[in-house]
Amino acid sequence: MLQVAVLAAGQGKRMYSDLPKVLHPLAGRPLLSHVLDTARRLSPERLCVVIGHGGERVRETVAAPDVAFAIQERQLGTGHAVRQALPELAPGGVVLVLYGDVPLIAEPTLRALIEAARGGEAVALLTQDLENPRGYGRIVRGSDGRVVRIVEEKDASASERAIREVNTGIMALPRARLENWLSRLGNANAQGEYYLTDVIAAAVADGMPVEVRQPANANECLGVNSKVELAALERYYQVSRAAKLLEQGVTLADPARIDVRGELDCGRDVSIDVNCVFEGRVTLGDRVSIGANCVIRDAQIGAGTEVKPFSHLEEATIGANARIGPYARIRPGTALSDDVHIGNFVEVKASQFGRGSKANHLAYVGDSTVGSDVNIGAGTITCNYDGANKHRTVIEDNVHIGSDVQLIAPVTVGAGATIGAGATISKDVPRGGLTLTEKKQVTRADWQRPQKKKK
Ligand code: UD1
Ligand code: CA
Repeated sequence: MLQVAVLAAGQGKRMYSDLPKVLHPLAGRPLLSHVLDTARRLSPERLCVVIGHGGERVRETVAAPDVAFAIQERQLGTGHAVRQALPELAPGGVVLVLYGDVPLIAEPTLRALIEAARGGEAVALLTQDLENPRGYGRIVRGSDGRVVRIVEEKDASASERAIREVNTGIMALPRARLENWLSRLGNANAQGEYYLTDVIAAAVADGMPVEVRQPANANECLGVNSKVELAALERYYQVSRAAKLLEQGVTLADPARIDVRGELDCGRDVSIDVNCVFEGRVTLGDRVSIGANCVIRDAQIGAGTEVKPFSHLEEATIGANARIGPYARIRPGTALSDDVHIGNFVEVKASQFGRGSKANHLAYVGDSTVGSDVNIGAGTITCNYDGANKHRTVIEDNVHIGSDVQLIAPVTVGAGATIGAGATISKDVPRGGLTLTEKKQVTRADWQRPQKKKK
């Protein structure tokens, strides 16, 4: 049986932020959420987060039916923190200790560590050999090579500081012995804290074997203590995401200039130009091409569609062989069929477009149902908001709307209708024919342009 305790009570002073450290986002999600996702993939019996600083905010952010919370009022050390979790952990099995600020720890590494703990027959420690071990607890081994204890840097002798094998902090411990070991911890050390690391010496004293494993990838164990470290981790994460996309056959103009904050599924022969951001769940069909500087969130884009530079798409479904942008804004609730063209400076919100319809220049189409083969002229606006309520516009198949038309919703334009430029349409338009709201054109021949006054 596996149980997981995630330590997340620390303040994160060096973040210089009012946001609790574990809630700072990595790839668009709180650090702690990454840890919880990975923990869940191990299918633990219990999952407990130890909260303290900003605890209520942390709890609200990650609350879920499978997560229990333990409160550590004062941060008296990592051993004290794990002790607070004990009431939430069932007897028996293995307790895996993770950290809310070590977000990239990966499932295979943890599986190997848990296996090494043999259901509670051994203690399993995740360690790393570092060129520069500064700041970390050091793994002290006896002359027979077996782990004897962990010494924190601040408590270490000069020879112990020379040890390059460090404690990542992540360990798997037998639940049955943990209570006893934690109750024996003292705080007579350089930091006056109850160190979790001291359970290793207690385990050795009790004759329990200590197994050591190393992470599959050196960067997995990196923690976040400052914005500098957070930024470095973000880049590391994005570079590895980009590498995966390349391995799957996606063309990236520059793998160092793409950010994926969520899930990005790509078909064959997808190409993505520089500086694009993908958020939430995005699916790109075969042969989709995304121009430079696009931001795309929670969208599905059909095969062969081209999204040109500087376009912003959010909660939208786009059909196949469509052309979007440059400079298009597609807002939530939009569904565009195949072969639709949305051009520059066109905003579409909560609207459906039928096959082959076009709005190519400077338009706002909101709360509208647009049929197929419709052409919406430059400068056309659906006036969907009366100051209190939103109303729908219906534009049936094969309608041609001239430039600079206002459609005052609720209004329906019948199939095949043509609307002349500059019309203000406040009543339903019948099918076919030409509808105009005529304005008289006048010329004043005697009119003079104003002249600039001489000073
Ligand atoms: C700890 C380890 C050290 C290891 C290092 C790896 C101990 C005593 N030392 O040191 O051997 O090399 O991690 O990064 O465990 N926390 C709480 N409550 C507390 C104290 C800490 O929730 O009372 C949380 C912190 O928020 C943090 C984590 O535990 O996420 C680690 O605590 P920190 O004080 O940073 O430990 P280190 O000194 O880095
Ligand atoms: Ca730390």
